[in-house]
Amino acid sequence: MQIESDVLIIGSGAAGLSLALRLADTHHISLISKGNLADGSTLYAQGGIAAVLGDDDSIEAHINDTLTAGAGLCDPEVVRFVVERAASNIRWLLETGIRFNLEPDGTHFDLTREGGHSHRRIVHADDATGRAVETTLEDKVRAHPNIDIHEHHIAVDLITRAKLGLPGSRCLGAYVLDKADDTVRVFRAANVVLATGGASKVYLYTSNPDTSTGDGIAMGWRAGCRVANLEFNQFHPTCLYHPRAKSFLISEAVRGEGGRLLLPDGQTFMERFDPRAELAPRDIVARAIDHEMKRLGIEHVNLDISHKPADFVKRRFPTIYRRCLEFGIDITREPIPVVPAAHYTCGGLVTDLQGRADLDSLYAIGETAHTGLHGANRLASNSLLECLVFAEAASEDIRACARSRPSETIPEWDASQVTDSDEEVVVSHNWDELRRFMWDYVGIVRTDKRLQRAAHRAALLLAEIEEYYGDFVITGDLLELRNLALVADLIIRSASARKESRGLHYTLDYPEPDTRHPPRNTVLAPDNYPGRDETPLSVEA
Ligand code: FAD
Ligand code: SIN
Repeated sequence: MQIESDVLIIGSGAAGLSLALRLADTHHISLISKGNLADGSTLYAQGGIAAVLGDDDSIEAHINDTLTAGAGLCDPEVVRFVVERAASNIRWLLETGIRFNLEPDGTHFDLTREGGHSHRRIVHADDATGRAVETTLEDKVRAHPNIDIHEHHIAVDLITRAKLGLPGSRCLGAYVLDKADDTVRVFRAANVVLATGGASKVYLYTSNPDTSTGDGIAMGWRAGCRVANLEFNQFHPTCLYHPRAKSFLISEAVRGEGGRLLLPDGQTFMERFDPRAELAPRDIVARAIDHEMKRLGIEHVNLDISHKPADFVKRRFPTIYRRCLEFGIDITREPIPVVPAAHYTCGGLVTDLQGRADLDSLYAIGETAHTGLHGANRLASNSLLECLVFAEAASEDIRACARSRPSETIPEWDASQVTDSDEEVVVSHNWDELRRFMWDYVGIVRTDKRLQRAAHRAALLLAEIEEYYGDFVITGDLLELRNLALVADLIIRSASARKESRGLHYTLDYPEPDTRHPPRNTVLAPDNYPGRDETPLSVEA
């Protein structure tokens, strides 16, 4: 049986859930998520959402801060588009029932500050903003009769007219694996939306949950969509360093509220790297920490907020306080051991101001997209904002286009040629190897030689995984590994094409920005990109 809807939304983070809610009164939605609905980065977002709401702040200041962090590669039209829509999207969140912290007067938002922001402009719900957003939207989505929810369903690949051998480039739906009964079903829809989050699991150490395996980027690429600026991986400077702590972030807001980075002897060091010290953009802070760790041969640096009143720290950072205490660290009395970790995928599928990707009726929103907002480095707390603004923009476009459901005959998934795997170890081994060489060779500091080594290994892995994929019954782990390996290869190709250091891409071979020509995006196009013959690419690796 094929499942049909007006809109197929793949992914249920801030981007997917808000799009579903914006369309559900007029459209029938299929919402699929590869885990529980709430599994994804959104749930873990701490700091908050950037929006101009303070009396002394301005749209121009937020735009300038975003452009400065983006190091010459933000699209100014997109930046203005997003920043101007921030306040109305915060109001929309309030209407859905989300409560943000207020000043003691009970009327003004309690705005916090983060690296790269010239003003206090981050609305937050304690230090667990993402949880407030995700769980509130989830409740609304579950209650809506027009949204069919399919949890533990993982999208395998997009279905396009081209794939069926038909003319045109329309996306018709997706093949989706139901993990409960291992059946692959056809989901067909008038509009298809990739809202699958980022790809930070491509690195050994990451602040991200297990869901961030770049599935949407990989599916889009295989179906013929371009990707842009994948070399810009953001490393968050401060993740908790503890053998038992898997991926726990210490929010940038801790530094925004006066937290200081210290070496083991208690000395500060950030002022040696940037006049903004702890509040420099996070690429600068992460590189400074990496530099000091390598220089001194230490396994972590420390982040100290214990000079602030204990009551304030516990009230302002209840989640971080409780979590650190579970590991025996009382942050009101002692510093927190921290290390940088992969945090955010600035690049992604090329999209326009309506969230449209390169195929007819296909959209990409949220972290999986490259909208042009972040440039070479994302400004803190601009990401949830981007999810909300582009969900709104895509909803308007979907409504305006009024597409009908596809009438094409779509074949069922063919599993007749494959058998059950007898060597699951291939998947787990390749998974570990991939994430380790990406960390070692394509991490915070790069060189041509390291990138060449990584490219060589990625090619071997890709070939092995494709062979395995062709022979054996698919599983969730295999699909994620296949996607991660492809995205790793695209990251390496993008990084190798950029012969300069800019924003998050830092290479010892070209340590300065290339000033000989205006900054350029790295755009890669697959062989089946439908516009290949008409659109010249700005940069091709
Ligand atoms: P996600 O929230 O990651 O959701 C992706 C969804 O897609 C998930 O439901 C997943 O299961 C599903 N999915 C993926 N692949 C498939 C598939 N093949 N089939 C079916 N479903 C699939 N940003 C801010 O602006 N402010 C912050 O304070 C902030 N703090 C952060 C703290 C942490 C620890 C982390 C990890 C990120 C933080 N970020 C923050 C970044 C921000 O949270 C993310 O960029 C944002 O939540 C991404 O939302 P999304 O909807 O695009 O993806
Ligand atoms: C944080 O709270 O430090 C994360 C903010 C972000 O990633 O935007």
